[in-house]
Amino acid sequence: MLTLNVALGDRSYPINIGRGLLGDPSLILPFLKTPRVAIVTNDVVGPLYLDSLQAALRARGVRVHAVTLPDGEEHKNWQTLNLIFDTLLAERCERSTTLLALGGGVIGDMTGFAAATYQRGVPFIQIPTTLLSQVDSSVGGKTAINHPLGKNMVGAFYQPRLVLADTGTLDTLPDRELAAGLAEVIKYGLIRDPGFFVWLEANIERLVAREPEALAFAIERSCANKAEVVAADETEQGERALLNLGHTFGHAIETGMGYGVWLHGEAVAAGTMMAAELSCRLGWLPAEEVSRIEALHRRAGLPVQGPRLGADRYLELMAHDKKVEAGRLRLILLRGIGQAVIHADATPEAIAAAIDARCA
Ligand code: NAD
Ligand code: GLY
Repeated sequence: MLTLNVALGDRSYPINIGRGLLGDPSLILPFLKTPRVAIVTNDVVGPLYLDSLQAALRARGVRVHAVTLPDGEEHKNWQTLNLIFDTLLAERCERSTTLLALGGGVIGDMTGFAAATYQRGVPFIQIPTTLLSQVDSSVGGKTAINHPLGKNMVGAFYQPRLVLADTGTLDTLPDRELAAGLAEVIKYGLIRDPGFFVWLEANIERLVAREPEALAFAIERSCANKAEVVAADETEQGERALLNLGHTFGHAIETGMGYGVWLHGEAVAAGTMMAAELSCRLGWLPAEEVSRIEALHRRAGLPVQGPRLGADRYLELMAHDKKVEAGRLRLILLRGIGQAVIHADATPEAIAAAIDARCA
């Protein structure tokens, strides 16, 4: 097992990464306030991993409740969130009850938001089971649900007590979901870690083939990057915004197509190509670097073009982005591989042209 630290003073927490960690409740017990937990999962992950986790915790004297939500991005909303509160209240869970998020980013984001708000805040632990959640969403304390008008529009910054990433759970992850996670892995190389980008160019097929050593390295390097950024800028006053490369375009794709039609990672991949295209048109990113970025996404099995929603519709959807300030869209663009910047001066015409060039 490898342990990284998210350094946030008295709210610091470890990220434990390794195979088979779910079978070892002693990794969880020290982080519980009292021996009582509510595990939140969904109807895909639950049948795979809930029974064994419950049994292991119960065997160590922990009182366990479980909430199984419907699976999917289309259920990341108030109605589903309320199912968590229904169980917590029906079971009279107390302020000291710890919520465990067992699943991908959807479960992690919703459980975190429930933990931030139930009785004004209860402890929670992230147990991510997708590549995307192990490299990104379980770390950093962003929690949210979607609104019909925009992705992740209602939420809170609320840090977990522990992240337990059992890489063995990736064995059951569908190929399409693994590829979606690779989009966020590639993101770290592009925004701040050019050496990692070069490593990915040499090793992407090993990741697609799920070679355990390669996956472990990519997860560790991604989490190390994320932990550094979060420690420096927890509430996204500056540098943390760079983690949103491709996301403003990508969120427009997810909302515009209907939640769940494009996977988050797929939308981020196409959005990253739009950001690279615009960066190139501004004269910041050489065309050959755009080609390298496109080739890596293709080899990862990711889309490199967005759906043809129409540039006007993209711009309308992008106007809801959380990075909009005083009505101005702030985009994350590239000045080179490994060097992301925040840019607030792109004209709607320039953005529209880049979108049109990268839609199929
Ligand atoms: P997801 O949670 O929908 O999981 C993807 C699919 O895989 C689901 O069907 C899920 O049930 C299934 N699954 C999960 N683990 C499995 C396993 N081990 N075996 C088999 N199937 C499994 O999607 P995701 O890609 O994990 O997360 C995407 C979400 O994360 C989006 O809502 C996005 O907005 C959010 N996100 C949040 C942050 C953050 O910082 N909080 C960062 C990135 C993304
Ligand atoms: N995934 C973006 C962030 O955590 O800031």
